[in-house]
Amino acid sequence: MVYKLGTDIDLIMSNLEGISFHDQKVLVTGGAGFLGSWICEVLLYQGAEVICLDNLASGLKENISHLIGSDKFQFIKHDISEAISFDENIDIVIHMASRASPLEFEHYPIEILKANTIGLMVSLEIARAHGSRMVYTSTSEIYGNPQEVPTPESCYGYVNSIGPRSCYDEAKRCGEAFVTAYSAQYGLDSRIARLFNTYGPRMRADGIYGRAIPRFIDQALSGTEITVYGDGSQTRSFCYVTDQIEGILRFASMDAARGYVVNIGNDLEISILALAKKVLDITKSDSEIMYQPMPSDDPIRRRPDITRAKELLRWEPKVDLNEGLFKTIEWFKGA
Ligand SMILES: NC(=O)c1ccc[n+]([C@@H]2O[C@H](COP(=O)([O-])OP(=O)(O)OC[C@H]3O[C@@H](n4cnc5c(N)ncnc54)[C@H](O)[C@@H]3O)[C@@H](O)[C@H]2O)c1
Repeated sequence: MVYKLGTDIDLIMSNLEGISFHDQKVLVTGGAGFLGSWICEVLLYQGAEVICLDNLASGLKENISHLIGSDKFQFIKHDISEAISFDENIDIVIHMASRASPLEFEHYPIEILKANTIGLMVSLEIARAHGSRMVYTSTSEIYGNPQEVPTPESCYGYVNSIGPRSCYDEAKRCGEAFVTAYSAQYGLDSRIARLFNTYGPRMRADGIYGRAIPRFIDQALSGTEITVYGDGSQTRSFCYVTDQIEGILRFASMDAARGYVVNIGNDLEISILALAKKVLDITKSDSEIMYQPMPSDDPIRRRPDITRAKELLRWEPKVDLNEGLFKTIEWFKGA
């Protein structure tokens, strides 16, 4: 099977039936990244006008280069931590700008903190100036090592504020506080999406950008050792990108979702070792598994409680892990 990204875009469009962004102007910060580029593309298909703002820190111009000719698409290369304003009216701001891979936490902690605090404030000021709806993509990492699994939105989290992951976890927590404060003080129409691990085509596998799934696929396809941290018994729940994008856009579109925080992810929990074996199996690779020391503060379990997303957004994940992995592997083979 040759993977075609357009087929997945069509799938999202059909899953979003009845929802429209037609003639809405949407600013997507981090729009050249993995998730941001999918959001931009689907919004364009939905008839929206899209401003994609990105400094290309971890995103790639090639993710959006095919959109650049469209008169409804504008790309602005800019660091969102620096002030920027717009003359044109903006209906929705989706703040996604932030490096998100654990190895980046080590190399760019200050950038990450800034993107989710100062940068988010720049986005919030744009939303405030235009009376726009604000969507913030937060993360399951705000739960740290959660006290409750499956983890509901009511869980406060258990996070190390001075650990190696704190630049990301605490930046996102602070980001949520900023969004809450702007809503309380200025009456902003806002909402916070807590995304759980998402994977799929356009994820980077290279260097510091490689998260577990793209790294495993890259290693399996190139026949090099698969690196598993610890004994691999730590768990994650992986959501295929089409489900995630549908969830975010449902959340962004609904008047009734104003003021809500919603977990968006797949609630199937799998150990990292089982995931590595699955990738080996699907790719029919002979790569060996190599165990490396567990990084400190790596969460032990991740599994969202998605009751709220099901009820409020009328959304649930549809793509199972085997199918999503298969598609992602096919994309990597053709990339
Ligand atoms: N993919 C996931 O599993 C996941 C899970 C939880 C939360 N999230 C959140 O979703 C958002 C997108 O993540 P992603 O997986 O697409 O990561 P990504 O690294 O592919 O995309 C992030 C984008 O933001 C841009 N960016 C970073 N700092 C910027 C800045 N200061 N100014 C302008 N642009 C900047 C990058 O260049 C990149 O294009 C992030 O906010 C991330 O924290 C993602």
